[in-house]
Amino acid sequence: MTLHTLNELIAGGVRGRHVLIRSDLNVPLDGSTVTDDGRIRASLPVITALANAGARVLVSAHLGRPKGAPEAKYSLAPAVARMVELAPELGIALAADTTGPSAQELAASLADGSVLVLENVRFDARETSKDDAERAAFAAELAALTGDNGAYVDDAFGAVHRKHASVYDIAKLLPSYLGELVATELEVLNKLTTDTARPYVVVLGGSKVSDKLAVIDNLIGKADTILVGGGMLFTFLAAQGHKVGASLLEVDQIPVVKDYLARAAAAGTTFVLPTDIVVAAGFAADAAHETVPADAIESSSFGAAGLGLDIGPVSGAAFAAAMKGAKTVFWNGPMGVFEFPAFAAGTRAVATALAESTTDGGFTVVGGGDSAAAVRTLGFEDSAFGHISTGGGASLEFLEGKELPGLTALER
Ligand code: 3PG
Ligand code: MG
Repeated sequence: MTLHTLNELIAGGVRGRHVLIRSDLNVPLDGSTVTDDGRIRASLPVITALANAGARVLVSAHLGRPKGAPEAKYSLAPAVARMVELAPELGIALAADTTGPSAQELAASLADGSVLVLENVRFDARETSKDDAERAAFAAELAALTGDNGAYVDDAFGAVHRKHASVYDIAKLLPSYLGELVATELEVLNKLTTDTARPYVVVLGGSKVSDKLAVIDNLIGKADTILVGGGMLFTFLAAQGHKVGASLLEVDQIPVVKDYLARAAAAGTTFVLPTDIVVAAGFAADAAHETVPADAIESSSFGAAGLGLDIGPVSGAAFAAAMKGAKTVFWNGPMGVFEFPAFAAGTRAVATALAESTTDGGFTVVGGGDSAAAVRTLGFEDSAFGHISTGGGASLEFLEGKELPGLTALER
């Protein structure tokens, strides 16, 4: 069983063939404006390579989580408009539907070297169905768009952990290949699981601790240091017996976190938790706020109603110090509500330290849509880091050592 590469597909000749690429165009939007085009820019090389080789390129992708029916706010139109700006020479068009009359007609008349994006693949409920037969039927409709000599390329790393029709089932219907974006992600992420250069520091943030538990479990004994920020830190503080006011808390996860804290020391992994927290009167950009000790969150003037929205400056400096000298750093999840400038300092401190680690010769990886958007929003260049992963959930599941359906499906 092996994975076949894009180069093999191109070397075999694609002129005049319909090639369906699953791309990850799931970009953040403000109305109809793409606020971070990282995933679009990352997807264009494979689309361009196939178009330049004369393929008739079909692109399937999802945006957001529509409920299995068309919904204007989840249209791929803004993403396609940005693609056209970035690669006007490709003559990229968008079908009005996913596998319906518009997609069929435009796919059939596609010229060699041109590109048709199908409308949001999640506008069809069968894409994400738990029923194998439903997904297979939808995958067959997608495959039919490629005529009788089609091929499939999976280049959507951000979706390889999903057992969806356009990611998993389609690969059984067409000769299937691994896109360069996914190949590069795998190469990079392998360095985080195999012969990882030490010291290895992991920075975890983001709101939900339950999303991160499996990866934390897997990193205990592998990472030298795990720095914990973001909304999930409050479950850690609670596990240490501290009150967290009205901050995000997953009470049911406290025992699990306690177990991790207990196991870590013996396994040679040090957890570093913030010692100061920026506590706000409410969840708003202009909310009144104060910095208080992490073990006395309710000592702020907001009392038990206070809401932790960022790590404090002492913690930001301590996290930066813990990253100093690291040979490998993986970061997933913002340290605070970085979208509000008043609560962005912790995330900025971590991003700055990560950029410094890169300059010092460390191998640094930013994982996840939110963290990637955070560093770009804060004005960092992509080149400040070793690698910015396009995958959030996918990179975490990879680090958990889980099987990724989108990859197993490509083996033949
Ligand atoms: C992502 O944003 O992580 C990927 O595009 C996958 O999206 P999903 O979590 O909605 O499947
Ligand atoms: Mg996501």
